[in-house]
Amino acid sequence: MKLADPCVLIILGASGDLTSRKLIPAMYEMAEAGFLNPATCILGMSRTTKSDAAWRAELKPWLQKQVKDFREEVWTEFAKRIFYIAGDAATNEPYARLSARVAELDAQRKCGQNILFFMSVASELYEPIVAQIETAGMVTEGRRWCSISPNNKSWQRIIVEKPFGFDDKSAEGLNRALGRVFEEDAIYRIDHYLGKEVVQNLLVFRFANSLFEPVWNHHYIDHVQITAAETVGVGQRTAFYDKTGAIRDMIQSHLLQMMAFVAMEPPTSFSADHIRSEKIKVVNALQTPPLDNVSQWGSLGQYAADATEGAYHDLKGVEPNSKTETFAALKMHFDNWRWSKVPFYLRTGKRLARKSTQVVIEFKPPAANLFHKIMDTPMVGNRITIDIAPKEQFKIQFNTKIPGPMNIRPVEMDMNYADSFKSNAVEAYGPLMMDAMRGDQSLFKHRLEVEGAWGAIMPFLNEASAPLRKNIRGNYAPGSWGPRSATDLLARDGRTWAE
Ligand code: BG6
Repeated sequence: MKLADPCVLIILGASGDLTSRKLIPAMYEMAEAGFLNPATCILGMSRTTKSDAAWRAELKPWLQKQVKDFREEVWTEFAKRIFYIAGDAATNEPYARLSARVAELDAQRKCGQNILFFMSVASELYEPIVAQIETAGMVTEGRRWCSISPNNKSWQRIIVEKPFGFDDKSAEGLNRALGRVFEEDAIYRIDHYLGKEVVQNLLVFRFANSLFEPVWNHHYIDHVQITAAETVGVGQRTAFYDKTGAIRDMIQSHLLQMMAFVAMEPPTSFSADHIRSEKIKVVNALQTPPLDNVSQWGSLGQYAADATEGAYHDLKGVEPNSKTETFAALKMHFDNWRWSKVPFYLRTGKRLARKSTQVVIEFKPPAANLFHKIMDTPMVGNRITIDIAPKEQFKIQFNTKIPGPMNIRPVEMDMNYADSFKSNAVEAYGPLMMDAMRGDQSLFKHRLEVEGAWGAIMPFLNEASAPLRKNIRGNYAPGSWGPRSATDLLARDGRTWAE
């Protein structure tokens, strides 16, 4: 990996869970691996008053918990690059101090006047914060009328977390607000799933091997399943989650991103423009379900109580009559040639049977079964399973003869990351933040892609989804695979979930 440009990384929302659990551990790992420019420093901002030393002391136990092989000597050096400033980022009050602190750090460390803002705050704060950043004159590069900075070198970029907006209209509004201050090529809409090794490898698997592309279409593929199942519940995040739900939290971003990598056409080259334009096309080819029949295209659920945790609807911070989904399974179709009549089933949920992030490509069985007289079970189609978490592996299932008298059964061949590469998975935010520091947008979402994705899922969120939410309360048991209606969704098509 190429060394990233130096910069001051300003994390807005420094006291938040994301910062301590993901962003700082990711930067530690990148620093340890030598990818983070030695001049780069991190300046956290949030409302609580504390010193640089106090923030460092708060972060250390998080690193010890989150980072595999935490090393004291790496931390000692890394901690010297961490700074803190107190302030309410949505008001104008802290910006003079913030600009002065950035200038001071830049002068000390030689960061080339580059600034990377990371919006680790609630999405309703994006607009006011971006407006303050502009008023404070902190953006000199990327302005519409000046595509290079006055000194021709420095840059200011912004990373924006998901969920990007609340619905299609708010996402468009947010894109307009960001676009008033930053050029599109300075806006990095992040989805940490695209930082995961195996998700990136989907592109290599598909486009660096000649074996798969000829069969990657409706002639050979029966359907695709994409699952992101979690065993954890909503925990302390009820205020956020009850307004958000599984579709906005997971499907609109993470699952659609994985789906885009499975479904997109080959880009002309591995460049940001080419990759992103194929992703925009594929997202725009998504069909929306008929508004009077959305219930046949999805299943929504809310977890019930068990011995270890209360039901979702009983959690503090959840509206008593909340119809927010903690589980969603949706059927999607593409209106294009490659995927004609091939359903993509997406599924995600909290408190499910096990943690599993997985893409399953089910192939059609052979056109004729010449072994039908000797087989005691029906011939199954080939299956490619791409495990993203907790295991990282690719598996191909094919039919084979069992030793002894002629009989056939499916077996799996696998490529496991841990065995093949002997390397530990790094926190997915790290490589993505390095890309943002290098100016590579390949793995970030374009505004048109985000807007297209919202458009495709709105029927599962707006009033058309009312029948799906009718009996949602406690409709699945923790430790299960979701409500009965999720099984029915596939059963109606004569299929079952790969579990
Ligand atoms: C986040 C969601 O984006 O992704 C969380 O907000 C979810 O609700 C998390 O738990 C899952 O990420 P991962 O990398 O653990 O699969």
